Amino acid sequence: MNKPQPRTTRLHKPKRTVSIIGTGSYVPEKVLTNAALEKLVDTSDEWIVSRTGIKERRVAAPEESTSDLASKAARAAIEKAGISAEEIDMIIIGTVTPDMAFPNTACLVQKQIGAKNAICFDLSAACSGFLFGLEIAQQFISSRTCDTILVIGADKLSGIVNWQDRNTCVLFGDGAGAAILQHRPGSHGIIHTTMGANGDYAEILHMPGGGSRMPLTKENIEQRPNTIHMNGKDVYKQAVTAMVNAAHEALETAGLQTKDLACVIPHQANLRIIEAIGSRLGLGPERVFCNLQHYGNTSAAAVAIALDEAARAGRMKRDDYILLVVFGGGLTWACSVIQW
Ligand code: UT7
Repeated sequence: MNKPQPRTTRLHKPKRTVSIIGTGSYVPEKVLTNAALEKLVDTSDEWIVSRTGIKERRVAAPEESTSDLASKAARAAIEKAGISAEEIDMIIIGTVTPDMAFPNTACLVQKQIGAKNAICFDLSAACSGFLFGLEIAQQFISSRTCDTILVIGADKLSGIVNWQDRNTCVLFGDGAGAAILQHRPGSHGIIHTTMGANGDYAEILHMPGGGSRMPLTKENIEQRPNTIHMNGKDVYKQAVTAMVNAAHEALETAGLQTKDLACVIPHQANLRIIEAIGSRLGLGPERVFCNLQHYGNTSAAAVAIALDEAARAGRMKRDDYILLVVFGGGLTWACSVIQW
């Protein structure tokens, strides 16, 4: 398989700097341990921990939807930012598990949190959705089209996992992370985001059924086309290459080196992928944030939850340089360099 060719955003000089002024996250209460999964499929705690690093994940209640998870994360971010919901000009949600085909999940969150002045839309970029959203928000604020934007990564993957497929069901979890973006005077904020996509590999990680190409029918429902299908080995290789390349490119464009970074927050899919990224960037584990053991891969929520937890754990101080890097179905990938 060829290396993914980065097709990145152009370097732009932001007209005004855009800061993350508050973060929040939410994970459902129910914990699903590896031991519990041993009763569902032919797997073991030893296999899951040694191949992925995951020890447990959270699973939403049946009546709890993606917009419910997202609204809870949003409320926490709004509180942390010290703003009112009415101040939000735009809500962008990265998700592959919307409550329904339409209206979009962002409209449903708008209603729940009372952000009545916001323009609302969802963004489909799988695990890269939160960083794609951050960059869109950055562009709207730096061009002075909006002042305050709520970006959310939220997914209820438990609803699209085939619980009989051990290759995938042990990997995923549910959750949401949110950030409030505003212009703040000074130089800190989002310095540069590199984004890329490569549709040539669409089929190595996808949910083929339930859309216009393969509507669900009585005949095909037994094959569960409305669940995650993944070629784990191919995704693994592409993920490491794409994230390391994106990190190098984003750092170079930002005029920084890995030694300048206080903290790297990578997509939380597999501990071996996280360790490979750390080692290829020459970073020790103390500078690479990981919470995968508790939540599994929560898709668009993963880096957003990690950002919130890293901030709350004091892993970065004001003016520190941090790097967020993600990879997901599409294929899609992105890397943001931020001065905190
Ligand atoms: O958000 C981005 C999306 N996802 C990712 O980034 C995931 C990327 N890929 C991965 O993380 C890894 O490829 C996996 C964790 C999915 C798989 O790890 P692997 O080391 O690539 O294992 P494998 O797929 O090569 O499977 C090795 C063996 C197979 O058995 P055989 O054919 O060698 O007899 C699998 O059937 O492990 C078996 N296996 C399992 N055994 C116990 C697969 N899943 C399980 C399981 N429990 N849950």
